[in-house]
Amino acid sequence: MTNAHKKLFIKTWGCQMNVYDSNRMSDILSALGYKTVDAPEGADMMILNTCHIREKATDKVFSELGRLRVHKEEKEAAGGKMIIAVAGCVAQAEGDFILERAPYVSMVFGPQTYHELPEMVIKAGGGERVINTEFPSVSKFDHLPDQHTIEGSAAYLSIQEGCDKFCTFCVVPYTRGGEYSRSAQEIMDEAHRLVDQGALEIMLLGQNVNAFHGAGKNGRAVGLAELIRNISEIKGLERVRYSTSHPRDMDDDLIRVHGEVQKLMPFLHLPVQSGSNKILEAMNRKHKTDIYLDVIAKLRKARPDIAFSSDYIIGFPGETDQDFEDSLELARTVGYASCYSFKYSARPGTPAANLQAALVPEHIASERLKRFQALINEQQAAFNKSCEGKVLPILFDRKGRKQGQLSGRSPYSQSVYVNGNERLIGNIVDVKITEAFDNSLTGDIVMADDVA
Ligand code: 5AD
Ligand code: SF4
Repeated sequence: MTNAHKKLFIKTWGCQMNVYDSNRMSDILSALGYKTVDAPEGADMMILNTCHIREKATDKVFSELGRLRVHKEEKEAAGGKMIIAVAGCVAQAEGDFILERAPYVSMVFGPQTYHELPEMVIKAGGGERVINTEFPSVSKFDHLPDQHTIEGSAAYLSIQEGCDKFCTFCVVPYTRGGEYSRSAQEIMDEAHRLVDQGALEIMLLGQNVNAFHGAGKNGRAVGLAELIRNISEIKGLERVRYSTSHPRDMDDDLIRVHGEVQKLMPFLHLPVQSGSNKILEAMNRKHKTDIYLDVIAKLRKARPDIAFSSDYIIGFPGETDQDFEDSLELARTVGYASCYSFKYSARPGTPAANLQAALVPEHIASERLKRFQALINEQQAAFNKSCEGKVLPILFDRKGRKQGQLSGRSPYSQSVYVNGNERLIGNIVDVKITEAFDNSLTGDIVMADDVA
């Protein structure tokens, strides 16, 4: 390639799948001579990798585009060129609208098309405006390069994409398409490469990751449980996680793996969305609270130290005071280590967006959200507090904000800060937790002598 050292700036919104996708885009474009940089100034190409799940997602994209446009104009005034691209779920959902409203955007492409990036970039470089929001019949995974960008020692590995569940509030089945699982061999190869590059932890990703059913040898389907068993045997890999799961797909074999595989971290994000069976039904969640509690109980039996996080939607259309109380009650029953809660807001094109008449008034929804978050903050603080005095293995992956400080993750995904030598970055080290805060822990590194 003659166009070496072009600068690529990617801004990523949203979930870990998007972070993974951004890394892969940067891998693909490095073959075209693009080097990924941390700031938009002077970039030759900017990609906004967008997320459609949050409220006003499209507005946020347009205001960011407004800022980037200034950089493009400056560069062009100086005789340079810049490609502005919008990727991800907003691009998928609003592609035509973006091209129409933002004439300075050259490329709009959805999450299933990243393998076609080189072709799109060449077209855009030639002055063409490119829109690509197909769900192609070949998987993008079959065409991504082997090369990998990993940051720190914890890597993401996307194993499954899309969702067939059609919860009535959710855009994912429309923006990411139907469920697709990669083949087990492909995933194993990628996991080996990540470990060779220094990954100590792999987080297996998918919108509905525990529905994973990749093709194995002789066409036999491999489930997530078997995949975790195989991945955990890779020498040098210390930690495995997976996210995000649906309660309906937590089968007994997967639950068993939590007891069997020590490398599988004792922390699971298992969204439930509501504690009211009536609301769960209206959400088309395909499970009731009893199934969820049953899964939690079985997991605790298999792995007594397991901790949970979840997602709750507050103020779904038709949610009464009692339904909301049921959500509080479910959260109290489970006792979370952390939990996300979101005020419901309609996403265009989803079935729940038609439930206008049953909308919960804004001030009531806000009040409920506040109460819910207060409960969760209490639970999180209590969970963090319960770690005081314990020795936990911490994977250090970066420097902390303060001089001489390191930042790492506990098995429960808590942020842990200690004073220590930078050489510990990229290692798992025992830390005695001395103090818990609402959102993090601090502690002291346990010297070999201390543990006798
Ligand atoms: N309104 C509020 N929250 C939503 N989520 C998804 N769609 C909506 C919506 N329309 C939340 C769900 C999901 C998380 C990623 O975002 O809780 O699990
Ligand atoms: Fe969306 Fe998750 Fe429901 Fe699928 S299971 S539709 S990704 S909330």
